[in-house]
Amino acid sequence: MKVGILMGGVSSEREVSLQTGKQMMVHLDQSKYSPIPIEIRDKRDMITKTEGIDVALLALHGAFGEDGRVQATLDTLGIPYTGSSVLSSSICMDKDMSKKLLRQEGVRTPDWMNVSSLEELATVDFETIAFPVVVKPNSGGSSIGTQIVRSAELLEEAVATALKWDGHVMIEQYIEGEELTCSILDGELLPIISIKPNAEFFDYVSKYEAGEAEEQVIQLTDVLQNEVSDVALKCCLALKCSVYARVDLMLKDGLVYVLEVNTLPGMTPTSLFPQSARAAGIEYEELLDRIITASLK
Ligand code: DAL
Ligand code: MG
Repeated sequence: MKVGILMGGVSSEREVSLQTGKQMMVHLDQSKYSPIPIEIRDKRDMITKTEGIDVALLALHGAFGEDGRVQATLDTLGIPYTGSSVLSSSICMDKDMSKKLLRQEGVRTPDWMNVSSLEELATVDFETIAFPVVVKPNSGGSSIGTQIVRSAELLEEAVATALKWDGHVMIEQYIEGEELTCSILDGELLPIISIKPNAEFFDYVSKYEAGEAEEQVIQLTDVLQNEVSDVALKCCLALKCSVYARVDLMLKDGLVYVLEVNTLPGMTPTSLFPQSARAAGIEYEELLDRIITASLK
């Protein structure tokens, strides 16, 4: 079976995607699959470079990769692909939209507001904002353009930075708690990982430089374990994720706050999803096999 590994892409997470793709290339079981690396540099590559493959293994992240547009192109071309559908991918990439849906399902997520320009920000009464907040591109990834803002004077600059990456910016209540991540494979929760970054938060450097964050499988109390597990699975169900996804959340005073759901989680050497799978006894090679097999069902 010819497996096209689609990597690179045109988003701000291009470098991360190349790392994910390289890892997938190394670990794809060649006794079963023929890997074909496909580097996407231009949107049209989706049409010209995918010809003849049996399945697209998506190593893409961010805009035009994780947001449903690549999935829609592959659907049109009749090429099966790994992971979630067009709809689920689009919703999960849009943090505002996914948080609205999660709230509607009774999932706790930090309060937030979105602005689309500095002019719009100027109309906001800063007295109504409970600092600290996290300012982030609404449809970003890997914490690119994301900052924690602790006082009103610093807000405009942070929003201006985030606006460079996305026309919509989220200003979200910062939950100062323990960051956890839940990897879900085929409807099953893999071991939960707790993240303690060296930096103020789990930023780009802490995510991708080895040793910049302490990441450990954590055993919560039974009550909390059940709560986190229920919440993570509920998110995937509510947002219609398929095959695999990673739910990022904060735990504070026994309460679970969902930050976001990633439909194409990073699979780089420092990424959390493969770590979580390994803790469950699923090595990278088997993980890819399971992702492909489940996606073709
Ligand atoms: N957006 C990155 C790739 C992640 O969530 O792992
Ligand atoms: Mg993300």
